[in-house]
Amino acid sequence: MNRRRRIYEGKAKILYEGPEPGTLIQHFKDDATAFNNKKHEIVDGKGVLNNRISEYVFNNLNAIGIPTHFIRRMNMREQLIREVEIIPLEVVVRNVAAGSIAKRLGIEEGTQLPRSIIEFYYKNDELDDPIVAEEHVTAFGWATPQELDDIMALAIRVNDFLSGLFLGVGIRLVDFKIECGRLFEGDMMRIVVADEISPDSCRLWDIKTNEKMDKDRFRREMGGMLEAYQEVAKRLGILNENDRPAGSGPTLVQ
Ligand code: TMP
Ligand code: ASP
Repeated sequence: MNRRRRIYEGKAKILYEGPEPGTLIQHFKDDATAFNNKKHEIVDGKGVLNNRISEYVFNNLNAIGIPTHFIRRMNMREQLIREVEIIPLEVVVRNVAAGSIAKRLGIEEGTQLPRSIIEFYYKNDELDDPIVAEEHVTAFGWATPQELDDIMALAIRVNDFLSGLFLGVGIRLVDFKIECGRLFEGDMMRIVVADEISPDSCRLWDIKTNEKMDKDRFRREMGGMLEAYQEVAKRLGILNENDRPAGSGPTLVQ
């Protein structure tokens, strides 16, 4: 099965050559990493859950006309995607102060921000993904001003959609990260949402208890990461109440 050509291996995913030109297979691993791989564990079943949650989100984004790289899920750990040229930015949208912004600006975690804030981080492991301004992005040619406008418009649309989606299942979308890519179709190029959207790349808090349902459980050594991801999947209607924990053996996936 894995004799396909490996195009790229990241911390949590592998990209393989796809069945047709212009396609790739995105494989979700069970690796959990934080602080640029300084903390690393295998969390049995995480890849399966992120594959399903990300499939659900991307299918919905496609359905409301937000362009993405996603074509379809293939199996428990893999999805078929369009090959794009990844823009080397982590685009973070924040609604509530948490994590690095809380630290950097001395804002108490949980404080509602005056409005949604978009930040850019330069994707570079050696530099630990430093925060950058639009000026750096355009001056160094990581994206053109027009592309940055498109990226910000996409990020806002994704934020509006995701905020509503999660609010509907009792979850507050504190912040999230997306990556964007250039999709070439003939002479045309457009910016699309790429990578994944999952509890690895979002902060999700229970609306009533503020309990964390995302990768902060791992980053902050709180335990219960897999259970939290399962709960997100359950609330979104992806997993049935009776499904076994993802790591405990074969699970029937439609
Ligand atoms: P931060 O508060 O640590 O800057 O994270 C902001 C959001 O981005 C949070 O939802 C987690 C997500 N994120 C990633 O997906 N990958 C990363 O490497 C980092 C640092 C954050
Ligand atoms: N994605 C980064 C890492 O794997 C950091 C994080 O998500 O906290 O190290």
